[in-house]
Amino acid sequence: MIEHKWFDFAKAVVNEMACVKKNENLLILADTWTDLSVAELCFEAGRGVGAKTNLLVFPMMQHDDVSELDAMVSNAIHASDVVIGLCETMFLEKKATREARKNGTRISSTILRGMEEFAIEGLLNANYGKMLQESKEISEIWRKTKLCNVSCSNGTNISFSLEGRPVDIGDGISDKPGEADFFPGVDVNIAPIEETINGEIVVDGCIAPGNGIVDELMTLTLKNGVIDEIKGGKDADNFLKSLESANDEKVFHLCHFTLGLNPAAKKSNNMHECEHVVGAVTFGFGDQDPSFEGTVGEAKIHSDVVIMSPTIVLDNKKMVENNKIISR
Ligand SMILES: [Fe+2]
Repeated sequence: MIEHKWFDFAKAVVNEMACVKKNENLLILADTWTDLSVAELCFEAGRGVGAKTNLLVFPMMQHDDVSELDAMVSNAIHASDVVIGLCETMFLEKKATREARKNGTRISSTILRGMEEFAIEGLLNANYGKMLQESKEISEIWRKTKLCNVSCSNGTNISFSLEGRPVDIGDGISDKPGEADFFPGVDVNIAPIEETINGEIVVDGCIAPGNGIVDELMTLTLKNGVIDEIKGGKDADNFLKSLESANDEKVFHLCHFTLGLNPAAKKSNNMHECEHVVGAVTFGFGDQDPSFEGTVGEAKIHSDVVIMSPTIVLDNKKMVENNKIISR
């Protein structure tokens, strides 16, 4: 029995996140790990607004699987004005999605497994307006920032320049042609100047690829924007193996710095929820969205690591500490 809140969720996804309009070609994209009852509700919500809606289910592909989507899935994405992704498969990194976005297809995506409560609370009950206002204020500060330092009692200490890079507000809303966003938001993202990134990231939250929260601290040593060493337990070994298996040197390059802002998010084995915890910092590696205007560009895979409670200092002024935004 599907609870009533999932109807509201599906309507909010279709109307507020994917901004679906009448007569648009809408694809609900699910894989074999998707809760199909939620996918069907999104399918019905799409039909409800008068979109030409299809629901497609394909075999789930592992996060570090670098093969492309098959022709049927690729063609369906190409034929869509808007895709609502509810699947575990990282379809945004696939060729068909990249090409479709260049032709105007917009993408609204989430991974629900393990963050069902956050999906509801973070989308329906969080104060979205307040989060958006906060994110705008933070992006203004980041635009004026030269040097950023992230540190933590767990050993993290890394510095980089933000100068001249655009700030992306991850509001979860995809309303422009070619746009891709993940819901629920909100987070603030930027690509640091690659060659200025030096120090150590000690990960105590989620890693992806991986099985969620690390079982032991994982330390990444960065030299000039590139991972030089990965140390830790079994998770660190597996993370390194995943990166190496891509056979692409670019997957070791740091490509984004992200600050979480959703008060409904908790430390969780779901990466999307973990990275949205207020004051948590996520560093991404590898494949980089063109909107970041960075130098990393396309890579075979994208990975993320989370530090749950760091201190962020911008040009010697403390901005975040103990999961609180101090200045904005
Ligand atoms: Fe990322």
